[in-house]
Amino acid sequence: MSLLLFLTLLLQAPAKPPIQRDRLRATLEELSKFGRNPEGGVSRIAFSDADRAGREYVIGLMRDAGLTVRVDNAANIIGRREGRENLPVILFGSHIDSVPHGGNFDGDVGSLGAIEVIRAMNAAGVRTRHPLEVVVWTNEEGHHFGKPLTGARAAAGMLPADELNVKDEDGLTLADWLRRYGLDPARISAESRGELRLDGAEARRPPGSVAAYFELHIEQGGRLEREKKQIGVVEGIVGIRRWTCTATGFANHAGTTPMAERHDALLAASRVALLLRQEVRADPGRQVGTVGYMHVEPGARNIIPGRVEFPIEIRDLSMDTIKRISTRVFDGIKKIEEEEGVKIDCQPLSEDPAALADTALRRVIQESATEAGFSPLSLPSGAGHDAQAVATYAPIGMIFVPSIGGISHSPQERSDWQDVANGAEVLYRAILKRDVIP
Ligand code: HGY
Ligand code: MN
Ligand code: MN
Repeated sequence: MSLLLFLTLLLQAPAKPPIQRDRLRATLEELSKFGRNPEGGVSRIAFSDADRAGREYVIGLMRDAGLTVRVDNAANIIGRREGRENLPVILFGSHIDSVPHGGNFDGDVGSLGAIEVIRAMNAAGVRTRHPLEVVVWTNEEGHHFGKPLTGARAAAGMLPADELNVKDEDGLTLADWLRRYGLDPARISAESRGELRLDGAEARRPPGSVAAYFELHIEQGGRLEREKKQIGVVEGIVGIRRWTCTATGFANHAGTTPMAERHDALLAASRVALLLRQEVRADPGRQVGTVGYMHVEPGARNIIPGRVEFPIEIRDLSMDTIKRISTRVFDGIKKIEEEEGVKIDCQPLSEDPAALADTALRRVIQESATEAGFSPLSLPSGAGHDAQAVATYAPIGMIFVPSIGGISHSPQERSDWQDVANGAEVLYRAILKRDVIP
């Protein structure tokens, strides 16, 4: 190792990065006000007023930390800190949009933890070789428009032009919402994979433009807590395939229609939910399948349901496993249709590719956690993340901190404040460790 590199390592290897737990906590508690629900937790749906207010708050934090802030045409918020050399950026961040009635840690910890890292670098007088960019991705949860990772997919060139015209329940398209944010949706790259039609879009990050992407996130599961580990080193992020299904039966009088003559859409949809659970459980492994809601029509106690809309999602690290299970489910649906006399139509909605974390970045995170005195645990992510879209064009590394009780997507979502600060410290160390590599 050259003397210069050794001195660089010595100078930059922080004895104890000046991450301030209470300052980070204060920003997270402030952010939790935007979309706060009376029962606790938050509903900060992307493109809502609460989301817009939360974005303004985060932009202010970025500016106060000395970052140069821009908003790309997919509404991703990016705060840039120049490096000493003209190198690809080291990108890190997460999201601040939430699910309905969600918690105040999912996404927020990685977004505000990233800004805390910048404040700590400022305090330590650290100037990295690589330029750094903190990113807050748009609409990670996908509750708005039904498709997740909107901003991260736009940056990956995976936001097809027709998705800009998808309407929400108020009849507004994604393009309408981007224009409401003062952006120009026409300047988002619309490409099929591989055939890049860049029209000067800012959102798209060309391959090679990002040296590494780190995302700090709560585990949203219970393994770290159970195994008493402070830091999770993510091995990979599950792939997710989603369908939207409609069961169409025949609405009729609940009192005068004999049981044998019914075409009950809710019963048929319920059988699909049970079939999904049966087929997912039939194979060994960690795959999961969920029917998250059922919209029943007409929806009266004395009318046999005539129509039910419901989603199917299946997740696993292996896309082959998802395909194998979904094939069995759709075969089983044919049998349910015949037996119930109900038409069940399922249309593919979205597919988030499984993403493996970069081996070198996993090692960087592992070493950073150990040097900080924490006990790291390698584990997969059962939750989807923006990082899986970034993985299509840059190496990714994810850092998990424990979720209390393994609870997430709930007002009871909590993480210990010291664990949150520990995660930010490991993020700080990992960035500096990666920075010394060209
Ligand atoms: O659905 C997920 O796994 C993520 O929280 N968006
Ligand atoms: Mn998240
Ligand atoms: Mn989430």
